[in-house]
Amino acid sequence: MNRTKTPRARRAILYVPGNETRKIEKAVTLGADSVCLDLEDGVAPNRKAEARETIARAFRALAFGASEKLGRINGVGTGFEIDDLEALVPAHPDGIVVPKVNDAEELRWVSARVREIEIREQIAPGSIALLGMIESARGLVNAVAIANADARVEALIFGAEDYAADVGATRTREGLEVLYARSAVVAACAAADIQAIDLLYLDFRDADGLRAETRRGAQLGYVGTQVIHPNQVPLVQEIFTPDDAAIAAAQRIVDAAAEHLAQGRGAFALDHKMVDMPIIKAAERVLARARAAGKIAME
Ligand code: COA
Ligand code: MG
Repeated sequence: MNRTKTPRARRAILYVPGNETRKIEKAVTLGADSVCLDLEDGVAPNRKAEARETIARAFRALAFGASEKLGRINGVGTGFEIDDLEALVPAHPDGIVVPKVNDAEELRWVSARVREIEIREQIAPGSIALLGMIESARGLVNAVAIANADARVEALIFGAEDYAADVGATRTREGLEVLYARSAVVAACAAADIQAIDLLYLDFRDADGLRAETRRGAQLGYVGTQVIHPNQVPLVQEIFTPDDAAIAAAQRIVDAAAEHLAQGRGAFALDHKMVDMPIIKAAERVLARARAAGKIAME
């Protein structure tokens, strides 16, 4: 499957507790690709109602600049989810983050509710995206179906802490205990041609650790990650932006490929290395990411 439009960059998704007005006001000034106002685990149960109102007001009144407006609802089946959607969707966010997705039916259910509210509120049908979180064993084994659940689904987000707790893994600095799931989420997303967003690095004062963890995610195929603190935003966005040398190298491969393919050659040599389809596809991905990040012009 090949999508016609370049997906928007989601190099950093910055979470903000939905009842903390001061942080919300700060979050929209930081240049994060996405700002996610949270109703789930960042908000105490006795503050959910207040947070719904605060988030709806922020979506309507605050200037998000180029940042994507996201709201995270509580999981389907928690009993909070309908009120969450009724509060957030009429304020027309760009997308809804659905946590702890266990099967595709949950996202289809959310999509149908969003559609009803869009119609009622005269919001363009289908204009609100869904980002589903994979953070349970059931979610992981159903990840391919979840990634393909609905046309609104633009990304899956890997939740490592909840996943580890669900399967009984012990989190370590090396992260081998979540590597299988972390890679499986990337594969499910690639198969469905949607974005994969990486795990959250909790120690927000440790820039070196964040850098290493984020690079590892980028190497695995992630195009963005979740963050919780302003300092983390520029650091991860830089890692997920191809640098000038990478863009130039990718452009050279794509240009040379066009020439050779026109002459009927699928494999050719460039700088004493073989180039064929997987190398060309990887180069095209680099250019797509550079376009989404605004470093080169859109096609
Ligand atoms: N978004 C916007 N602003 C934030 C922020 C966030 N996620 N986290 C911190 N800030 C602000 C603080 O309000 C403070 O602003 P100020 O100087 O104007 O008062 C500044 O950034 C520095 O904050 P700092 O003192 O370093 O952090 P803290 O100890 O106040 O907060 C956390 C630490 C983890 C509680 C906070 O970063 C946070 O709430 N993160 C989001 C948590 C969340 O949403 N979890 C659920 C999803 S996983
Ligand atoms: Mg979680």
